[in-house]
Amino acid sequence: MAHDDSSGSELAAPSSGAAAGTAVERAGTAESNGGLAVITTDTFPDPGMPPHRPRVTDLDPKKARTAQRAVYTLFYLSVAGSVFALAAYMAFPIEDGDPGALRLNTVFLGLGITLALMGIGLGAVHWAKTLMADHEGIDVRHPVRGTPETRTRAVEIFDDANKESGFGRRTLIRNSLIGALVAFPLPAVILFRGLGPQFDNPASLLETTMWKAGARLTLDPSGLPIKASDVTLGSAFHIIPEGLNEMPDRLEQKAKAAVLLMRVNPADLNVSPGRETWNYDGIVAYSKICTHVGCPVALFEQQTHHLLCPCHQSTFDVNNECKVIFGPAKRALPQLPITVDGEGYLIAQSDFLEPVGPSFWERS
Ligand code: FES
Repeated sequence: MAHDDSSGSELAAPSSGAAAGTAVERAGTAESNGGLAVITTDTFPDPGMPPHRPRVTDLDPKKARTAQRAVYTLFYLSVAGSVFALAAYMAFPIEDGDPGALRLNTVFLGLGITLALMGIGLGAVHWAKTLMADHEGIDVRHPVRGTPETRTRAVEIFDDANKESGFGRRTLIRNSLIGALVAFPLPAVILFRGLGPQFDNPASLLETTMWKAGARLTLDPSGLPIKASDVTLGSAFHIIPEGLNEMPDRLEQKAKAAVLLMRVNPADLNVSPGRETWNYDGIVAYSKICTHVGCPVALFEQQTHHLLCPCHQSTFDVNNECKVIFGPAKRALPQLPITVDGEGYLIAQSDFLEPVGPSFWERS
């Protein structure tokens, strides 16, 4: 850095180091000079504080009381919002699987939580703007580490803040705020509880599905039964059990019972003992629920006879009883034993003989 006392200015160079810091501290303005920044040491006068303007609530006790009413009304509104959210969660149970109830649950729960948050936020802002002490102050910078005197002063400041905000004195506001803050987390407790384990043995939920002996295989979503003659070599169909569309909890049932139906050359199938009769002339049915974390396996590669899960690319070999040949899944897709009825429609021989879905349920 070149320093020219007579001109009252300094040239800031890239390697100026600590001296540059000094120059910046003293700087008032900066100009360009042939590519170098010219920092002058001019200073500007302290503009001082703007004149204090008292608020209407400082001048008129009636207006202050109105503001106080508004504040505690907002906090009580927040309490009402939290209670409303709780009531909505109970009134529209999502366990039934009814999409209408699920939609109403989401909407009203959201409205309740919004009201609860807004009540606390608006109440706090209104309180600060209209009733808390209104004066301008200057805080001088000081070292971060506090001395005993600083700590004593901090306690005094908290004390002053308590007095000036009226937190201890305005009991109605204080109590309503405490009520709002206590009530607000309650919906969250209920919501998080809903995410926790619901059953001692979660695998039991996946052990049975709607499939049973004689249930026709029907097309998803139309529910029309499908004949073996409709399934040509290399084709694949999304299948649901007969009667699923009429079930009140159809979404939950479908999540377990969805099936993929494919026809391959019977000679290409490697069938293990006991499963010889589970396919019908090369038509095979496998659970559509990936054994990794439950995404729908929906891609059938006609040439390779591979089923692909789009989520994490687990790949199952249809010719080899849908055993895993790639990806994070650890278990083959469960096979649904099928045959045909007297009219040639495809039917199930039984339910799945093992739990469908993610295999992590099997971990103890
Ligand atoms: S859910 Fe299918 S691979 Fe992850």
